[in-house]
Amino acid sequence: MGVVATNVLNDRPLRLSATHSYAVAELVDVLAVGEDSAALTFEYMAECCSTAMLTSTLKGIAADESRHQLWLARLKQALPEPAPDVALRRLLHRFFARLADRDMRVHLVRIVALDSAVCQLLGALQSAGTPVSKDARTSSVLRAIQRDEARHVALARRSAVPLVYTARGKELMAEVREGLAHVLTFRAAAFDALRVDPDRLLARLRRLARNGLAK
Ligand SMILES: [Fe+2]
Ligand SMILES: [Fe+2]
Repeated sequence: MGVVATNVLNDRPLRLSATHSYAVAELVDVLAVGEDSAALTFEYMAECCSTAMLTSTLKGIAADESRHQLWLARLKQALPEPAPDVALRRLLHRFFARLADRDMRVHLVRIVALDSAVCQLLGALQSAGTPVSKDARTSSVLRAIQRDEARHVALARRSAVPLVYTARGKELMAEVREGLAHVLTFRAAAFDALRVDPDRLLARLRRLARNGLAK
């Protein structure tokens, strides 16, 4: 973990044009809202949890999310400030607040849907030939986050059995995917600027939402 953190926290200059920097800044801004919310949520869940094994899993995820907050905050310092968008911010806060549920398994099923979607969009941003793939600093941060999120998907899925494989579980995941795709339409231009076709990306998220996630 120490090696990853050292690489991710490097301060090498960005190799992005002004347009690409601005697009990255807009997307990092959205990701950062998610990480802030996730860090708080998982700490709270770990405190409320009655099972020792699940508590340690949740604490581990909370620690990852706090690290992601730090990495994104450092990256933000090198990026331009995106124009304030009150409507989007309100929508994001509402979206993340709605992930929580008294039933921990419901919440974890939603995390499976959300974190797997985040893995997909981070992967798309780093596809061969994209501006992000050519910028070592941005891609090292996004890659490290993606790796952790993939682990969160596996951990949350394991902790949410059997609900995650039921029709109700698929319905919960579909709602999250649809909600996320809707929020991301507000940042379609940023994806476009970074050579990620927003229509294809969002259609992919929605398609998975309809079909449920592979085991
Ligand atoms: Fe995260
Ligand atoms: Fe996560």
